[in-house]
Amino acid sequence: MRTPVIAGNWKMHKTVDEAIRFVAALRETELPGNVETVICAPFLALPALVGEVQGTRIGVGAQNVHEKNEGAYTGEISVPMLRAAGVKYVIIGHSERRTYFAETDETVNQKVKAALGGGLVPIVCVGEVLEERESGKTKEVVQHQVKQGLNGLSPEAVAGVIIAYEPVWAIGTGKASTAEDAEEVISFIRKTVADLFGQQAAGQVRIQYGGSVKPENISTYIAQPNIDGALVGGASLQPESFSKLVQAAA
Ligand code: G3P
Repeated sequence: MRTPVIAGNWKMHKTVDEAIRFVAALRETELPGNVETVICAPFLALPALVGEVQGTRIGVGAQNVHEKNEGAYTGEISVPMLRAAGVKYVIIGHSERRTYFAETDETVNQKVKAALGGGLVPIVCVGEVLEERESGKTKEVVQHQVKQGLNGLSPEAVAGVIIAYEPVWAIGTGKASTAEDAEEVISFIRKTVADLFGQQAAGQVRIQYGGSVKPENISTYIAQPNIDGALVGGASLQPESFSKLVQAAA
């Protein structure tokens, strides 16, 4: 009953021209109708991408947003700006932003509220670092991130959020979590959502796995009952592999 969502996170890759060429190549492939397909691109490429995906099932997302609608925040981009450009999704609290740009659960929460308030679908990232994993703290860490990140939202709002469980040790390392381990954490996240916001929100919220997802392993995650797709970095950069990922999620 939950539509799987495959989102590519290009991170700091691709010029505007490269982004346009990517979509032209992706349009040549068969994208299934029952998978929500999203490309989260650098800000500069977003307006061009929105134009290029017209008439396709591909949605466009940003990789970050500021929590305020406007003001003296040099270098920042707001929710109304993204909306006006035709952007529909935004990644919030990716571990790279938490690590390199001092994002906290508090800023994540403010950004999630701003995104939802302005009509963007937030893709809220949570996940433990290796040390936390090895000391058996994974569930404690993700529970805290989910609780703080979604703090103060209504159950209806939570139902429209996408959560991405990305264990930090699996990002860009080629060491993907096993599908069984990812399912265990993701079903725990769903239970956390149920405890905080009720069964209905928990049944509707979509939870992706992210971390070294490839065309070769995507089907193992999709086969799990609680995993509703993937947030994909490296394998989303080539139209062939991204298209294969989306097809395998159908
Ligand atoms: O947001 C997606 C990401 O962090 C995972 O990256 O390259 O391991 O698929 P990658």
